[in-house]
Amino acid sequence: MTGPDINQPTTQDHRDAAPASSSYHTVYEDWRADPEGFWRRAADNISWVQQPETIFDADAGVYGRWFPDGVLNASYNAVDRHVEAGRGEQPAIIYDSPVADTKRTISYNELLSEVQALAAVIADLGVGKGDRVVIYMPMIPEAVIGMLAVARLGAIHSVVFGGFAAPELATRIEDTEPKLVLTASCGIEPSRVIAYKPLLDEALRLSGSDAATLVLQRPQVTADLVEGRDYDWQEVVDKARDAGRVVPPVPVQATDPLYILYTSGTTGKPKGVVRDTGGYLVALAWTLRNLYDINPGETFWAASDIGWVVGHSYIVYGPLVYGPATLIYEGKPVGTPDAGAFWRVCEEYKVTALFTAPTALRAIRKEDPDSKLLPRYDLSRLRTLFLAGERADPDTVNWAQQTLNIPVVDHWWQTETGWAIAGNPVGLGILPIKTGSSTVPMPGYDVRIVDEGNKEVPADTMGSIIIKLPLPPGCLPTLWKNDERFRSGYLDEFPGAYKTSDAGFKDKDGYIFIMGRTDDIINVAGHRLSTGGMEEVLASHPAVAECAVIGIADALKGEVPCGFVVLKSGVTDNPADIEKQLVARVREQIGPVAAFRLAITVGRLPKTRSGKILRGTMKKIADHQPWSLPATIEDPNSLDEIAEALKSYGL
Ligand code: COA
Ligand code: AMP
Repeated sequence: MTGPDINQPTTQDHRDAAPASSSYHTVYEDWRADPEGFWRRAADNISWVQQPETIFDADAGVYGRWFPDGVLNASYNAVDRHVEAGRGEQPAIIYDSPVADTKRTISYNELLSEVQALAAVIADLGVGKGDRVVIYMPMIPEAVIGMLAVARLGAIHSVVFGGFAAPELATRIEDTEPKLVLTASCGIEPSRVIAYKPLLDEALRLSGSDAATLVLQRPQVTADLVEGRDYDWQEVVDKARDAGRVVPPVPVQATDPLYILYTSGTTGKPKGVVRDTGGYLVALAWTLRNLYDINPGETFWAASDIGWVVGHSYIVYGPLVYGPATLIYEGKPVGTPDAGAFWRVCEEYKVTALFTAPTALRAIRKEDPDSKLLPRYDLSRLRTLFLAGERADPDTVNWAQQTLNIPVVDHWWQTETGWAIAGNPVGLGILPIKTGSSTVPMPGYDVRIVDEGNKEVPADTMGSIIIKLPLPPGCLPTLWKNDERFRSGYLDEFPGAYKTSDAGFKDKDGYIFIMGRTDDIINVAGHRLSTGGMEEVLASHPAVAECAVIGIADALKGEVPCGFVVLKSGVTDNPADIEKQLVARVREQIGPVAAFRLAITVGRLPKTRSGKILRGTMKKIADHQPWSLPATIEDPNSLDEIAEALKSYGL
């Protein structure tokens, strides 16, 4: 492999020794003036089997492809190259689990040995280049080792978040058609232990899949294994390790998929976001240094879950490729055991940058409003707090800034982009923070605010946020097996641009403010969920005639879903019983992560004369915001009924 000396400053090190002011504007202009030159230099931070000569091919793929003739392996970049650079004894993964009462540090040497052994097992189970492997696992090191072992073989992983129920897992299994599923016997939530295997068995049954499974038995639960289909992880991996099995990394094209990650769309059918290999690693390595201001050898903590994009990019590939230790935390910000948990972890592992969702801070603040637990810990190493995943409300940001006395940096991105569209590039010298703004576009992103006619709007004017094509390296090239859905969902509405489905504005300094989604997606505790998907579940209940789900403001989770249902005429069951059944149904079909706890029976839904449900106005009523009667409403009294129903639920 060819590659950089990863112990040395990188070629894209734009940082001054002590930046007097930010070099952001120069760097952004560098990119604008010569995008290919910019990404060619950034590509030098990655180790290639074959260095790319063509940086961008505008004629390939749906909107062009990055580094089409580059050849590399992601697992090699995340593991082997650090060992080869003499960093084998340094920590790669730090695992801290208050819920399993376990701590473990894994060096790059150990990581290499674990990845090799697991890759050997996975290969023995028939998985090769381009095959899919679903990973349904809790936040334990084996999940990350699994991702890296799959990538080592040039196969494609698809991680499914543990808080999703069997039918959601089944949808993903159906779409990816995996040869193998990696799982564990259980996940551990503070309130309960969740046996994963029965959920997986049900998902395999629902999807009709004949995939093999590799099951890590945790001490808390022993899963039943079916002979010939289910394999005991420890047993087979121990054998491979003891035999000293060596699995060389399989070279793949930079454009080959590294993973598929499903995210909520506006219907119940999630979108399979495809991530290619080369562009992704190039972009992530650039961000570690220039956006997050991290150096190899430090500790970077993204307090998320590997089931989300933040986990893929900043628990797994970003830090491991660039070289800081990464933290896998199996716990919550509060209750495991208290609201000082994050500060304890930051002290214990000398975390230099923490990345979390505003919800986690709201939870900590609720439990410990005066930050009484904070002085117990030495946070002198913590330089920056990064926030993303949902709108960072100014109140929470200000509280965090005052409490921690370090910059609190909001940044905006999506599963689709894989890395920040807008942020405050701390490594380039931090720009002045404007609370409520996720700051400025990152190099690679030409962000515009437009009206419905695709015309740019003036500064400080709300509009739809679009990104001019091509998207930068690392962003999705398409949806899994579905170019058409990619085009119609993202590219058709604003020709020449990618539709983010977020609305917001830019101020006169070019700072970007994200105000909310333009579609039916809501953000619950930083988790992206489809109200359309929940409506499909409610509508499938035999007593429901029609329904609408909206996201309503919640002091902790930002938003929570609330379902309004109209029962079929002739239904004699008690509405309260049906409401309970509906809550249970969403939990069983989508999962506890949906946090669907409110189903409210109403006589009718407010609609326009053409039959469109007035979800926007319903949301304003629920959030106690000013609202006006839409001119096109069919029956003006229907909105009063919604207000009354909410009042009767204490909302
Ligand atoms: N496996 C199984 N169930 C899970 C799960 C997992 N991996 N993760 C969450 N759940 C369950 C929870 O147990 C809970 O179930 P319950 O209804 O029985 O209580 C439900 O899903 C909702 O979970 P969660 O969103 O975590 O809410 P919570 O009330 O348990 O905790 C917070 C609240 C604020 C502490 C929590 O939401 C949090 O830490 N948020 C930060 C989110 C985050 O980091 N997002 C990543 C985007 S960057
Ligand atoms: P996900 O794909 O789960 O990362 O969710 C992406 C969506 O979360 C975006 O389209 C936004 O609506 C929202 N989001 C993410 N980061 C931010 C942020 N910093 N500010 C406001 N909204 C955000």
